[in-house]
Amino acid sequence: MTHLQFEPKLLESLADKVVILTGAATGIGRSAVQQFCDNGAKIVFGDVVEGPSRELESELGPNIHFVKCDASSYSEQFHLFKTAYEKYGRIDIVVANAGIAIHQDSFGPDADIEKEPSMAEVDVNLKGSLFTVRIGMHYLRKCGGGDIVMVSSIAGFKEGEGLVPYTASKHGVVGIMRGIHLTGTRENIRVNVICPWMTSMRPISFTRLYFVTFTLETNTDSETRLVLAIEQGWYERGLPTNEAADVARSILLCATANRGSNGITHSGARLPFAGKIVFVAGGESYEIEDRIQNLEPEWLGEENSKVLLRGQEYLAGHSWDATKTLGGKL
Ligand SMILES: NC(=O)c1ccc[n+]([C@@H]2O[C@H](COP(=O)([O-])OP(=O)(O)OC[C@H]3O[C@@H](n4cnc5c(N)ncnc54)[C@H](O)[C@@H]3O)[C@@H](O)[C@H]2O)c1
Repeated sequence: MTHLQFEPKLLESLADKVVILTGAATGIGRSAVQQFCDNGAKIVFGDVVEGPSRELESELGPNIHFVKCDASSYSEQFHLFKTAYEKYGRIDIVVANAGIAIHQDSFGPDADIEKEPSMAEVDVNLKGSLFTVRIGMHYLRKCGGGDIVMVSSIAGFKEGEGLVPYTASKHGVVGIMRGIHLTGTRENIRVNVICPWMTSMRPISFTRLYFVTFTLETNTDSETRLVLAIEQGWYERGLPTNEAADVARSILLCATANRGSNGITHSGARLPFAGKIVFVAGGESYEIEDRIQNLEPEWLGEENSKVLLRGQEYLAGHSWDATKTLGGKL
């Protein structure tokens, strides 16, 4: 892994950039909107929750626009992007952040096997990110390129328990990056994914935990709601915790890494900064994908790795669409 450290000069590259972001009523997305705004960007964000989103919009001023949008709906996401493009005539940065976790274990022994379980995590986290990236690619192409940042999770590359659809959906988000970044790089579109570990508020008392639990629906600050059930024990063990602002900073790191002049980038980042996985823990960012790829001969075996490379070289830029590759021979 490589420890990444933010080069503050790169924040200047955000001035007047147009950013689309999903899921910003609370938590990481809300903090990212604040940070993009502080650095002169124009932001159009979508969320299903209206009250806190409208508050954020009026708090931050004329460069922030809220569009009510369910990330799992293609037409609503298309409307979000269209609104931004019609307003500003361009889009530079796309962030797929909207996400949910259902904490009742539908794969456990107590689950009612006759009842179809909710797959809302797959709909919002995975399908929603696929939609964001598809529509994002379309608009970034029209604008000559740009950056896409997706928010996965530690559950995007690590095994876990009790969160099967969430884990599958977040592995899928890493899969989107691996499935699109080579194409994207050829089109000047850099696609990266961040995998935050535990992200919450500062240590809280049980009284506060009780308070927060019963005010979930009206929680309007940057405190995240995904991890309420585990955080007290987490803090007691002194395990590393991110604040929402740390993860938001990592989103900005990915969105700006390629925007410096004369090869200036964040400390530790290798250019082009594309196809990367950024693990965020204890407030720090670490790039881990380069090492996973470099160590392939070790975990896949040297011979397998060599043959795989030959296959990958053949497939590079090759269409899977037989109507194109075989044409009249079909
Ligand atoms: N909190 C953590 O520890 C943690 C760790 C790893 C990854 N993440 C990921 O970070 C992202 C942000 O989560 P957070 O921790 O800030 O939680 P959060 O609940 O505070 O934020 C999620 C945001 O997404 C919005 N949202 C939910 N469903 C939506 C939908 N269908 N369409 C549009 N918006 C929707 C919510 O209203 C909210 O504003 C998520 O993708 C989450 O999976 C969080």
